[in-house]
Amino acid sequence: MSDNPILLDLPEHIVGERILLRSWLPGDGAALFEAIEESRDHILPWLPWGPWHDKVETTETRVREWHAHYQLRDDMAIAILSRDQSRILGGTGLHRIDWHNRSFEIGYWIRQSEHGKGYVTEAVKLLTDFAFDHLEANRVFIRCATTNVRSNAVPKRLGFIHEGTTRQSIKDTEGVIHDVEVYSLIKSDRLR
Ligand SMILES: CC(C)(COP(=O)(O)OP(=O)(O)OC[C@H]1O[C@@H](n2cnc3c(N)ncnc32)[C@H](O)[C@@H]1OP(=O)(O)O)[C@@H](O)C(=O)NCCC(=O)NCCS
Repeated sequence: MSDNPILLDLPEHIVGERILLRSWLPGDGAALFEAIEESRDHILPWLPWGPWHDKVETTETRVREWHAHYQLRDDMAIAILSRDQSRILGGTGLHRIDWHNRSFEIGYWIRQSEHGKGYVTEAVKLLTDFAFDHLEANRVFIRCATTNVRSNAVPKRLGFIHEGTTRQSIKDTEGVIHDVEVYSLIKSDRLR
């Protein structure tokens, strides 16, 4: 694979059993805004960006910025859609990308009405496999506030290794500082 990530060809879609992952695209703003609107109480306090989406135009702007970053491969925000692409279920992505060391952080959220159906677990599994198999990842990691029990359940369910706790390292949107659990998979974990 080229060391220049811009030259990396990426598939348009990553298709799972029930979901499909793809880059956010211009035009997704209205549907994403609707998904955020129904989920504000549930997304907060864990994701700082909820309040930034105050109207459709702002969300459409964000979507276009995410698309541009995806093309540059410096941050890869990804939509979780129903397999037939008719509905936005939530978001995931590869963040804090370190191409030199091939290290990627996975983040995620799911809209309120699709909570508890396993879509996030399926998305994170697909994205982890994609990172190792297509992006030649050495390390994929996930960080969750200790008190965010549902978020911690996702890497645990997928067999990520708990590396430890970074103390007092994330402020929630109310300004309360939390300890954070760090989970990872490295190449050799997948051979076990
Ligand atoms: C964290 C968050 C993404 C977890 O969402 P979730 O819906 O619990 O996760 P999943 O979609 O993987 O669903 C798992 C649930 O579906 C169930 N499930 C049903 N079918 C399933 C399937 N085919 N595969 C896996 N799980 C399935 C699981 O048993 C589990 O239910 P349980 O919690 O009652 O045991 C969600 O709470 C969220 O968006 N929170 C706000 C944002 C946030 O905190 N993001 C993370 C920041 S670190």
